[in-house]
Amino acid sequence: MIKNISTAKSLKGEITIPADKSISHRAVMFSALSKGVCKISNFLHGADCISTLNLFKNLGMEAEFKENILLINSKKGLISPSKPLDCGNSGTTMRLCSGILAGQDFNSILIGDKSLSKRPMKRVITPLTEMGAEIISNGFAPLEIRGKRLHGIDYISPLSSAQVKSCILLAGLDAQGKTSFTEPYLSRNHSELLFKYMGVDISQEEVENGIKTTIRPAQLQPKDIEIVGDISSAAFFIVAALIVPNSDVIIRNVGLNPTRTGIIDVVQKMGGSIEIIDKREASGEIVGDLRVKYSQLKSCEISGEIIPKLIDELPVIAVLATQAQGQTIIKDAQDLRNKESDRIKAVVGELKKLGADIEERQDGFIVNGKKDLHGECEIQTYHDHRLAMSMYVAGLICKKEISINGFEWVGISFPEFEEYMQML
Ligand code: S3P
Repeated sequence: MIKNISTAKSLKGEITIPADKSISHRAVMFSALSKGVCKISNFLHGADCISTLNLFKNLGMEAEFKENILLINSKKGLISPSKPLDCGNSGTTMRLCSGILAGQDFNSILIGDKSLSKRPMKRVITPLTEMGAEIISNGFAPLEIRGKRLHGIDYISPLSSAQVKSCILLAGLDAQGKTSFTEPYLSRNHSELLFKYMGVDISQEEVENGIKTTIRPAQLQPKDIEIVGDISSAAFFIVAALIVPNSDVIIRNVGLNPTRTGIIDVVQKMGGSIEIIDKREASGEIVGDLRVKYSQLKSCEISGEIIPKLIDELPVIAVLATQAQGQTIIKDAQDLRNKESDRIKAVVGELKKLGADIEERQDGFIVNGKKDLHGECEIQTYHDHRLAMSMYVAGLICKKEISINGFEWVGISFPEFEEYMQML
């Protein structure tokens, strides 16, 4: 689908951001393992989360929607699937489910779409194999998993990755002995919070190699889960409000877990006007409302510990940096090349087409601002939802119309994205 975007005069008004994708996946997975009935409110209807929901239905979980509530019944436990389990485009589904399935007493096969089948899976296969798992694969999907009794490990990960961490912790739930996962910097901790909320003993400590998380075998207790809004979806509106002149926007119900709020820190460092107006708690997570206004911005450096806290926001942060005075440097983000697309290459290539001064680096990019974006060209999305939305935001400040080819990919995480933008 080709979408044409023309210059916006200003963005004004209020929106309530849809549910967090990472938490929506986990809410279904954890409920499926709880052997009870859970009510999930505000589940995200993006294609990725629907992949997770359908996958667990194929494992015998019962699920039905009643208005904004997703009712899950997992009293019967998981059963052997009758066909390969399709993770669609979702890396979170494939990586977390490999941890759940490796220790079951049945076999299963995880498959994905073309893009997911090109994403690296060794990062979960290696530690799971150390735990005694048997996974037949060439390092990419499909993953043929032969269910085995697992044992705990003490794994030191070279990557700060919530997907790998969650995979190993989920495998540890049912393994013999305790399981630890150490990562250089703390990645998003939604799994840890949900484990705690559902009664599991899980601990975290600072060690020489980073942050070590330890879990002991346990049974998850069924609980009702309220899912907060996704700061990664809010990011497109935060950036749009900062760069479209005269904008003043309120974004309600935004998840403010400190492992996800790197974008707020960066905006503040760049001199952007962003205010948290109301903070509360929901199912172990922090949530609040944001007010963002058009601002004069200055460049900054983004590297190290903050990277996992804004990894999914880097494409739209690149757009923001084109409107900041000076040189913005983004480094230590090489894993961006392993997302739904090679996001370093894609973002640099597409923003250059619009007239941005941006250079590709192995582990990030350098943006020289402030530059007017001219538009009048066709943008590619490389089957990547976040690239499609980032380029839409760039289109709002281009002098002339742009067209985005493959805009339908926004449905992966934010089907109503354009509707929300139109509301403002
Ligand atoms: C996610 C973790 C991150 C993020 C992805 C969702 C999760 O991936 O990029 O969109 O839900 O755990 P990595 O763990 O690969 O960094």
